[in-house]
Amino acid sequence: MKREEILKAIDEKYKAMGQDPDTHLRGLLYAEPITYWDYVQVDALLGLQIQRTTFPDEMVFIMYHQINELLFKMILWEIQQVSFEEKIEPKKFEMHLMRISRYFDMLSNSFTIMKDGMEREQYLKFRDTLTPASGFQSAQYRKIEIASTELINLIDFRFRKTIDRNTPYEHAFEHMYWQAAGKDHETGEKTKLLLNFEKRYKRELIQWMKDYNKVNLWTKFKQLPEEYRQNVDLVNAMRHYDHTVNIAWVMYHYEAAVKYLEGDEGEAVEATGGSEWKKYMLPRYQRRIFFPELWTKEELDNWGIDNLKSYKKLNQEEVKQLKL
Ligand code: HEM
Repeated sequence: MKREEILKAIDEKYKAMGQDPDTHLRGLLYAEPITYWDYVQVDALLGLQIQRTTFPDEMVFIMYHQINELLFKMILWEIQQVSFEEKIEPKKFEMHLMRISRYFDMLSNSFTIMKDGMEREQYLKFRDTLTPASGFQSAQYRKIEIASTELINLIDFRFRKTIDRNTPYEHAFEHMYWQAAGKDHETGEKTKLLLNFEKRYKRELIQWMKDYNKVNLWTKFKQLPEEYRQNVDLVNAMRHYDHTVNIAWVMYHYEAAVKYLEGDEGEAVEATGGSEWKKYMLPRYQRRIFFPELWTKEELDNWGIDNLKSYKKLNQEEVKQLKL
């Protein structure tokens, strides 16, 4: 664009808003040039790491959680661009899915920062100041799940038969798989961990369920033209994402919990959130699967049993067998 054209376009833009273009041009003359630190908001970002104790490894814990939340936000940003585009081009769907997948790979592959990156003695002390908080209370994590699949796939297995498309959202919410981690298994009463979470987020999450009911990634995939639903690369990318979130990440997370919460004698200490974590955190018990029809019967039967190893890339013939 030539300078005269730029000036003409500016003129038209501001006149259309009922604004004087010259005022805006003069503003440019006085404005400070932007800097890296203002643009990225470095000072604000680096001012958010506040420890509750003096143990240096608590800083690792806080910052890694913050990095996770930032990546969760990046994932939600991409999902939104798929979900709210009315007729999404298959190529665009694939592009965003690959971005989402790469972000979750990063979360999964970096989890050793937790497992190997803190001294257990320090962790066991600073964690006392965190009770009854837990990563369980990450609302963005729940939003990713809700925006990735149909609600039925997030309902606790024991209650799936009682829930269908006509079930009120409130009822579905009460039967999400993760409710189990927030209930006293003897009395069935909600723990402080869950009560606090619901007080803060229940309303927002129910709205989120409504918003994504018909536009979550799984429903959007099923609406793609058949040739794309049969596309080997896309199907493998979907399987990769499902496996990364629901087996790989879950297992790395579980291994970190074992290191910190299980003593050398194999005796488990209580989690800050208070769940029966040894059972709750294993993928073979939870069986969370975002895209069930993308897995063979055998793969579904063995979900999480050989843990990280079960994921395999399909060939065209195998994709055809899935009957998508
Ligand atoms: C030393 C590190 C960690 C340990 C020992 C640990 C332990 C646990 C435990 C025991 C639970 C079960 C609920 C409870 O009773 O608290 C849990 C849930 C959870 N944590 Fe962590 N965690 C760690 C790091 C992280 C990090 C870095 C994140 C990232 C945000 C995270 C996110 C979550 C989420 C999303 C849940 C709920 C998962 C579900 O419902 O299956 N955790 N964690």
